Amino acid sequence: MRKQIAAANWKMNLTLAKGEELVDQLLDATTGLTENQEAVFAVPFPYLVNIKNKLAGKSNVFVAAQNCYNKVSGAYTGEVSAEILKSIGTDYVVIGHSERREYFNESNQMLAEKINICLEYKLKPIFCCGEALEIREADTQNSYVENQIKESLFHLSAEQITGFVIAYEPIWAIGTGKTATSAQAQEIQAYIRVVLASKYGKEIADSISILYGGSVKAANAKEIFSQPDVDGGLVGGASLMATEFAAIIKSLK
Ligand code: PGA
Repeated sequence: MRKQIAAANWKMNLTLAKGEELVDQLLDATTGLTENQEAVFAVPFPYLVNIKNKLAGKSNVFVAAQNCYNKVSGAYTGEVSAEILKSIGTDYVVIGHSERREYFNESNQMLAEKINICLEYKLKPIFCCGEALEIREADTQNSYVENQIKESLFHLSAEQITGFVIAYEPIWAIGTGKTATSAQAQEIQAYIRVVLASKYGKEIADSISILYGGSVKAANAKEIFSQPDVDGGLVGGASLMATEFAAIIKSLK
């Protein structure tokens, strides 16, 4: 049974004290997680150790970095490697968020390199994909997302991609309050699974968790997560509020 995941993406928000307080408020909600459910906190690099310590002894709750560099180590002042992240107990790494693709020019090829390095250091990537508004308006979102997946993931072996985590996040729905309808999310996420099955077979495609991201909140999480090919969410704005994110965790199927 594939994992159902509620992932908080704090982005560049909260102080350490506010982040710790938020996690404290959410611990209760995470005690209800079942065996196939996880809560993940993608926090700023400097908070990873503190938040990881807060989660010590809790089941099915993990920390994620929001990025890592596409080189193993060396003279790259200011960058953070997968090896460094692993050494401090990081579990997951968000790779290729649309904000990184847009503001930091991250290409599909560069993301493939980041994924390889994460896997080398036994970090679990959360690979983000998703189309801009003009692509949705031209109704070419399926082929656009298919290409992102092929260029960044299709070099992986069957073993490497089994149990992988992908987040489909339409850019027009991120931080805009405009959510894809549950039918829109289901349609493209079912398509993503077909694309994965075409390369790796149905069994492996069925093991891959595909999260939806883009204005998920307490009020719409249950409906979106109830779709058969939606395995939880990657949540920005609403993950900064304890009551909102607690309700989102409880909306996992
Ligand atoms: P949002 O962000 O929930 O604020 O739309 C989602 C994301 O960027 O991961």
